[in-house]
Amino acid sequence: MFFETKNLDNKKVFDVISSDFRYAKALDSFGIDFYNKYDFTIKEICREKGLSVSSVHGYRLAMDESFDLDFNTLKSSPLNLVIEYLKHNHSYFIKNKLPYIRNLISNLSIDKSNHSFFEDLKFIFPHFYEDFVGHILEEEKYIFTYIQKLYQLDGNPKNHAKIFFEMKKISLKNIAQEHLDEDSEMEGIRGLTKNYSLKNISNLHLKVIYQELKAFDGELDIHSKIENEILFPRAIDLQEKVADQIRNISFLN
Ligand SMILES: [Fe+2]
Ligand SMILES: [Fe+2]
Repeated sequence: MFFETKNLDNKKVFDVISSDFRYAKALDSFGIDFYNKYDFTIKEICREKGLSVSSVHGYRLAMDESFDLDFNTLKSSPLNLVIEYLKHNHSYFIKNKLPYIRNLISNLSIDKSNHSFFEDLKFIFPHFYEDFVGHILEEEKYIFTYIQKLYQLDGNPKNHAKIFFEMKKISLKNIAQEHLDEDSEMEGIRGLTKNYSLKNISNLHLKVIYQELKAFDGELDIHSKIENEILFPRAIDLQEKVADQIRNISFLN
């Protein structure tokens, strides 16, 4: 549900975010912790911060303007563009999305007796974060770098020797299969939150956390699908092609 700016002015933060959890992120971007301001109106917190209500509203609307490339566009894009896109996703997850969720989780104060699972979420999230960063670093440092080298060498027989030994060490097929078989890093969090079900959750701060986790899970699914269905199959074909070019050079020599 979206509010017109004029209708937003006198709404309480609690009501705005209950209707649209993404306003929490919009306020966060202006340095406002929504969970400390439930009873203030949007107009009041904006005045306190020297902001215009329309800038908050504008920010919220901008969040819906997707700069994402769709799956089919990526499918027919050059491989180096696919990699740049995936790197861009990585940096957005690590620099924007996950720090926001981490702060939401660490700042939640809740009655533990009613929400014992929340202690588990607080415990499990840093582990998930660490695994996830490890996954991304490995992709960027080894896999993407290797595929980019293949991409640059394709059709350019000079310097093929450079990659020849690397090709012997890296099995893209195995890496692709492992990536496909891997459970989502979100598996544990899905279980803990009963698939992000809001049933029986009355605390607004916790609701925002669940909705953010769910949205992130969806984005991560799309990201992995691009890796599994576009990046790896095309990189494997490219590796074959470059290997053939190397064989031809050796044959000609
Ligand atoms: Fe990735
Ligand atoms: Fe991945």
